[in-house]
Amino acid sequence: MERIAFFDTKPYDRIWFNRLNQNYEFKFYEHKLTPDTVSLAQGCRAVIPFVNDTLNDTVIDGLCRAGVEIIAMRCSGYNNVDRKAAAGRIPIVRVPGYSPYAVAEFTMGLLLTLNRKIHKAYFRTRDFNFSLNGLVGSDLHNQTVGVIGTGKIGQIFIQICQGFGMNVLAYDPYPLKDADFPYVPLEKLLQQCDIISLHCPLTEQSRHLINRDTIAQMKDGVFLLNTSRGMLVESEALLDALKNGKIAGAGLDVYEEETEFFFEDRSDTVKRDTILSLLVSMPNVVLTSHQAFLTTEALHNIAKITLENLDAFFKDDTLQNQIQ
Ligand code: NAI
Repeated sequence: MERIAFFDTKPYDRIWFNRLNQNYEFKFYEHKLTPDTVSLAQGCRAVIPFVNDTLNDTVIDGLCRAGVEIIAMRCSGYNNVDRKAAAGRIPIVRVPGYSPYAVAEFTMGLLLTLNRKIHKAYFRTRDFNFSLNGLVGSDLHNQTVGVIGTGKIGQIFIQICQGFGMNVLAYDPYPLKDADFPYVPLEKLLQQCDIISLHCPLTEQSRHLINRDTIAQMKDGVFLLNTSRGMLVESEALLDALKNGKIAGAGLDVYEEETEFFFEDRSDTVKRDTILSLLVSMPNVVLTSHQAFLTTEALHNIAKITLENLDAFFKDDTLQNQIQ
């Protein structure tokens, strides 16, 4: 059996991989893949990393020296991979789509929570406080949502918003043909939308797409949703805009410096990221720990497609999901 090193393992990862696996011996490591842990891959023919593992040139070099032949990402985003360092040395495969519904539905959940202040109501009623003061929201019906990135997740989110009777404006450098919603330039989207939701990948072009300048162009009192990647948003600019009311609320499933904190219980740590601490303390922020993907269906599909990617590699078949 081929030995495979599986990094940053959580109990919910193992369930489906163990259930569907027939061909591989997994070495499950709870550690993230980093320059310090790369030696754990020694003797393994493949590694399975996740979104916050480090795949820089040092790690890729270490993997190649350890005899690893393929990197099988168990996620769709691959902004954490130094593709140049891997080029021509080791193939990288990923799971391009496993449940766009999981992420799109969660995004709407963040919006509903923020807008109708369900997070506040939940704590109030537990404390036997049944007052409604301060819980006024607004109808989403007829509001305009701006969707940045109309790939698999963006399209499902648009359908959900249309189901709510919302108006949609979209921006994507590669617009869909025959879309049943209008595309507009980014500036127009920023200026005209009541809600802005990010569904694009993190690239050199999209890094800090939401910054002081783009925030200044938005309507006063806009809601910002980010279930894509933390670095799409300049966190300090967001924090200032939340403080001065330019942005009325933010639903965040990702954070630009999340690697050290997300997916882990850090409740006993004294060393806390200042901006993250401020964001979680704000009543108009709902922040979750990169959870949008976490459904049974998504976990099943992630395991299934990752195993298929490995099978294709070891059988010398075409790698459908290769990123380089
Ligand atoms: P996709 O590849 O199907 O679609 C991405 C879309 O973004 C494409 O249409 C592309 O043309 C567009 N795009 C590229 N650069 C852009 C830019 N600068 N501005 C606007 N649009 C741009 O990807 P999919 O599956 O829809 O996923 C979107 C993102 O969601 C992923 O890149 C990933 O970062 C994030 N994600 C988050 C998860 C979570 O648990 N929070 C889980 C899965 C994905």
